[in-house]
Amino acid sequence: MGERDALLELRGINKGFSGNQVLKEIHLDIRPGEVHVLLGENGAGKSTLIKIMTGAYTKDSGDIFWESNKVEINGPVDAMNLGIATIYQELNLIPELTVYENIFLGRELKKNGKYSLLDRKTMRLKAEEYLKQLGQDISPDAKVSTLGIGQQQLVEIAKALTINAKLIIMDEPSSSLSESEIEQLLTTVMELRKQGIAIVYISHKLEENKRIGDRISILRDGRKIETLSMAETDTEKMIQLMVGRSLDEKYPKMNFQLGEEGLRVEGLRLKNSSKEISFTAYQGQILGFSGLVGAGRTELARGIFGVDPVAQGKVYVFGKEVKIKCPEDAIKAGLAFITEDRKGEGLILDQTLEFNITIANLKKLKKNKFLYKDKMKALANDYLKELQVRPGDITAQARKLSGGNQQKVVIAKWLCTNAKVFIFDEPTRGIDVGAKVEVYRLINSLVQDGAVVIIISSELPEILGICDRILVMNEGQIVDDMLREQADQEKIMKSATRGN
Ligand SMILES: Nc1ncnc2c1ncn2[C@@H]1O[C@H](COP(=O)(O)OP(=O)(O)OP(=O)(O)O)[C@@H](O)[C@H]1O
Ligand SMILES: [Mg+2]
Repeated sequence: MGERDALLELRGINKGFSGNQVLKEIHLDIRPGEVHVLLGENGAGKSTLIKIMTGAYTKDSGDIFWESNKVEINGPVDAMNLGIATIYQELNLIPELTVYENIFLGRELKKNGKYSLLDRKTMRLKAEEYLKQLGQDISPDAKVSTLGIGQQQLVEIAKALTINAKLIIMDEPSSSLSESEIEQLLTTVMELRKQGIAIVYISHKLEENKRIGDRISILRDGRKIETLSMAETDTEKMIQLMVGRSLDEKYPKMNFQLGEEGLRVEGLRLKNSSKEISFTAYQGQILGFSGLVGAGRTELARGIFGVDPVAQGKVYVFGKEVKIKCPEDAIKAGLAFITEDRKGEGLILDQTLEFNITIANLKKLKKNKFLYKDKMKALANDYLKELQVRPGDITAQARKLSGGNQQKVVIAKWLCTNAKVFIFDEPTRGIDVGAKVEVYRLINSLVQDGAVVIIISSELPEILGICDRILVMNEGQIVDDMLREQADQEKIMKSATRGN
């Protein structure tokens, strides 16, 4: 097909940030009604490229064509007027408002022209219609705060329909969703496609890309390597093209010697909960927490770490009872909590990597300054290199890193604390397949050095690939406990969904 068929065409797009060339001569065409997957390593330039399509960034040079006409997209309004909508990973809804109020936010319908009363009735009906069009049965009157992340995302998509979007761009929409929510999202994407809407879809989940995409474009170091039809691509080939080599193993599992009891939790009950939780984690046994999003795994970790208040229960670290009332207590007791929320709790985005890894750490360690700044800096540099953080320059501002690279910095930061018990919450969210392997290797070496490792993950292949023992949570309780050898996806899913 020629460029005449394109809905959106990019020709020779260049973009740099203070001398750092991030996009180099990108040519790309998006056809009406196709799902076009963008794939590339962390920092390859995917988010930057779509921000140029949505007017969040302006290109340095190159041309953009929309339905064969040359256009300039100088801001979000330009993109909206053309019919380009974006679903970012961080959703832009207002939690206190209802679904329909959010859908029409800023474009409210009025009864008699501009200055009259809001036409709530029509907005409700329209909202309902758009949601139905997506095959969704979400009430237009529901408050957004009462919806799960998956449903909120669907509200954002409904919002895109109200501007008659012809192109919807989704940047890692599935990364915070549970398996069933991902299914729903994929169904919705297929529905949009049927209606002739084009989708640009970014995800590090290769199987998902394979299922949903019509074509795939691969970026590497700011260059477009190739655009292929999905039919002629498999996950092996995707890896090969994005990393420039093949991966010998996705899960470098090691066998460890079972050691001492490291973390014991007895009868822990969170405030606002009636459920008690007990479990023990050992050295030499990576403990995985599986379950649906919302099963209470993150809440449990937050309770143990002193982020959220606990009503009752005891915590022992290497046999010694510890009283944890706040995160500082937890750090002092030798705990590390690598959170999934890199912006909220993980990083200070306006600061440098050095500040985030050393100063922020030392401040928290207070009296416990077993590592001095220089030593920590050297260590930080090592970890940044091992995790292939780009840019690996310790003086770079955290905000300027791509999403996946920020997540790697959060991991590096906690590795520098000398903790004895590590709780990882969705450690590889947003991290590309190649770098994931490095994260697993680091986790392995932590265990080899005697640390106790607990991993919360919603990705079953990850849980099965790296954990030695798996606890399944369901509605705030541990409902199953199995060794790796006894576990499989089906068994875990059964326990995770029992009674739901
Ligand atoms: N505002 C900015 N200032 C300076 N550099 C930036 C800025 N935004 C992005 N970059 C750099 O541009 C490059 C591409 O980043 P981008 O966010 O597009 O990557 P990505 O492909 O989306 O990666 P990920 O998979 O991790 O999300 C990175 O090297 C990043 O550090
Ligand atoms: Mg990105």
